Amino acid sequence: MPKIVNSWNEWDPLKHVIVGKADNCCIPPAEPATDAKIPEDSDMHGIDGPRSEESIIKANIQLDNLSKILESRGVKVDRPTPLDFNQKISTPDWDNGTMFGCMPPRDVILTLGNEMLEATMSYRSRWFEYLCYRPLIEEYFNNDPDMRFECAPKPRLTDESYRENYLSEDITVDERLKMVAEKRFVTTEKEVLFDAADILRMGKDLFVQHGFTTNLKGSDWLRRHFPNHRIHTLNFPGDPYPIHIDATFTPLRPGLIINNPTRQLPDEQREIFKKNDWEIIDAAQPAHNQPPPLCYSSIWLSMNVLVVDPKTVCVEETEVYQCEQIDKFGFEVIPVPFRDAYPFGGALHCATTDVYREGDCEDYFPNQ
Ligand code: ALA
Repeated sequence: MPKIVNSWNEWDPLKHVIVGKADNCCIPPAEPATDAKIPEDSDMHGIDGPRSEESIIKANIQLDNLSKILESRGVKVDRPTPLDFNQKISTPDWDNGTMFGCMPPRDVILTLGNEMLEATMSYRSRWFEYLCYRPLIEEYFNNDPDMRFECAPKPRLTDESYRENYLSEDITVDERLKMVAEKRFVTTEKEVLFDAADILRMGKDLFVQHGFTTNLKGSDWLRRHFPNHRIHTLNFPGDPYPIHIDATFTPLRPGLIINNPTRQLPDEQREIFKKNDWEIIDAAQPAHNQPPPLCYSSIWLSMNVLVVDPKTVCVEETEVYQCEQIDKFGFEVIPVPFRDAYPFGGALHCATTDVYREGDCEDYFPNQ
């Protein structure tokens, strides 16, 4: 039987991927985690419920188009099975008015080698999101005898998992930046928490952002779960809302990373890159001053690119400065229209998760 699941890093030649869908997506009601995670000038405060049919159609056109572009490059594309996200969910500890959606598979599923791991997630509204990927993961499991199908411990997400008084209306951006610099995030250390999009895979080394969606226990769980890997916890103090690493720190090929210039990696955490001759270069400025309406993410989705192979990168087509910078690094840039999909959970890296990239687990950081 064929090998279906294999991916050790963010850049080897991509052969099989999951691309999300915008169907049935909702803006979930406030929960202990979310007020802290939505910028105070966001148009999303006080709004919840299903997204408009028109916006879903527009996002799906771009997601389908991304799938076609990848297929035309020889990449097999699978799609998740959306649920009716506009329904109340509950566990013995809490209930929540709606779920979220299944546009950003990168947030939920971490593929490492022959393993697909369902993350704990850290929002109540996203607790059941893994169900959208189960039909695919079960198919991979049934057809690839080496595939490992794993789930991280399901979190309880009671109020104890969140810091009190972390609401955006009570905290200025300066205060929030200070709290982030001191590593006081909205999630507590009550239990293991991580979103898969906080993890970058670089062969033997995994780089994990400690922030609002992943706590230190989450990193520690990953260290114990992947004993053959080295786990490095990273912080990006300039980000008032540190949620997911992939609009902050983006490896493009072995030896080259772009870093959000407003969220610089601290000097002591740069050491491992320096010692191994990796270049960390400031990412180009975003082309837009604002994210599209009703979007959770910042303008820095400009750097949330999808590497198709070490010479080819998909970049959102209107992000002209990011396209130009990546072109100058010597890559072929594939421009992909994607801004209509941003509000559903991110850009090209967020909207995909690897099933198969060629290559093995290599040590890109021999000098530790
Ligand atoms: N949280 C990331 C950003 O918006 C995706 O920059």
